[in-house]
Amino acid sequence: MRVSSRGDVDPFIVMDVMAAAARAEAEGKRIIHMEVGQPGTPAPAAARAALARAMEDGPLGYTVGLGLPALRARIARLYGEWYGVDLDPERVVITPGSSGGFTLAFTSLFDVGARVGIGAPGYPSYKAILQALGLETVMIQTEAQHRLQPVPGDLPDDLDGLLVASPANPSGTMLDRHALGALIGACEERGAAFISDEIYHGIEYERKAVTALEITDKTYVINSFSKYFSMTGWRVGWMVVPEAHIRRIERLVQNLFICAPHASQVVALAALDCEDELQANMEVYRRNRALMMEGLPRAGFDRIAPPDGAFYVYADVSHLTDDSRAFAAEILEQAGVAVTPGLDFDPVRGAGTLRFSYARSTEDIEEGLARLARFMAAR
Ligand SMILES: Cc1ncc(COP(=O)(O)O)c(C=O)c1O
Repeated sequence: MRVSSRGDVDPFIVMDVMAAAARAEAEGKRIIHMEVGQPGTPAPAAARAALARAMEDGPLGYTVGLGLPALRARIARLYGEWYGVDLDPERVVITPGSSGGFTLAFTSLFDVGARVGIGAPGYPSYKAILQALGLETVMIQTEAQHRLQPVPGDLPDDLDGLLVASPANPSGTMLDRHALGALIGACEERGAAFISDEIYHGIEYERKAVTALEITDKTYVINSFSKYFSMTGWRVGWMVVPEAHIRRIERLVQNLFICAPHASQVVALAALDCEDELQANMEVYRRNRALMMEGLPRAGFDRIAPPDGAFYVYADVSHLTDDSRAFAAEILEQAGVAVTPGLDFDPVRGAGTLRFSYARSTEDIEEGLARLARFMAAR
């Protein structure tokens, strides 16, 4: 049957690692998962309990397209709590994960053929979603001296949009207020839309992440319950849009998704008040990060920088390999540790990088680091 070229998106290379890890596990081997981009913890207990009650109380049918009003209001309040930003709940849209937010944002902002900039290394699905929607991805090769984030000098003049993530995946680096403001200003000069992926907000170590909404209202901010709120599988996130865009987003969400899953919206609303449990998760990430910063260089992965946020360490391994895919396969085979080849995040320079995730339990991180050290010593 005929197919579209828009649908020919690249696969995740890490899927090969995950499939090989699953085969090894089926043979009875214990694999340490440092490839995963998700917490090992469930949604907060009180949030799961809230859903159990809601399931008894009603049918959990469709919600209105923009999402449960109580959830939109509670998210608006979060902006006051986290950043001191006064946000109108009407501007908050509940989405099926941040992934649903990207589809809505790109569709709302760009016509087919528009040129949208993303930084490399970066989250691979940005490019795939842009391609699937008939948009042109402009890959911006970021530099180590800019902590692998784009800067205004990197941006071509004919850009229609720019998407940045802070903290970023895979680097974990954050844009401070000045750097974020400079990119927003450069987009305004070009008439380009600025989209801010803030999915890792809440998972920060030294200082609070800055939201684009502290700088401008003329932006789409995309966020999710997947990471800090530990709810990847529930598929619920949110987006903040300018007031003038609410109605067009409402029409799009109604037609593309009807609404985000009702059950997940109930859990999300309760999760916003589970600070104690979420902060306990943060303590684990904090401990794991310290172990990684000490253990990775000791094992021989010494070209790393402390991440500002998220739960990844992005390592330059170009002195160890020129094929990160083969190197990841070797690490899995010989050390029993699954890691992500950098090629997923940067098709050009990623052959010389690996991403290590420390989202799982501290025991797993300790075991993984010990295995990596033995593997490197024997190499
Ligand atoms: C930077 C970034 N943005 C967005 C997503 C998608 O998350 P979700 O659709 O679960 O909200 C991810 C997932 O790993 C990510 O790393």
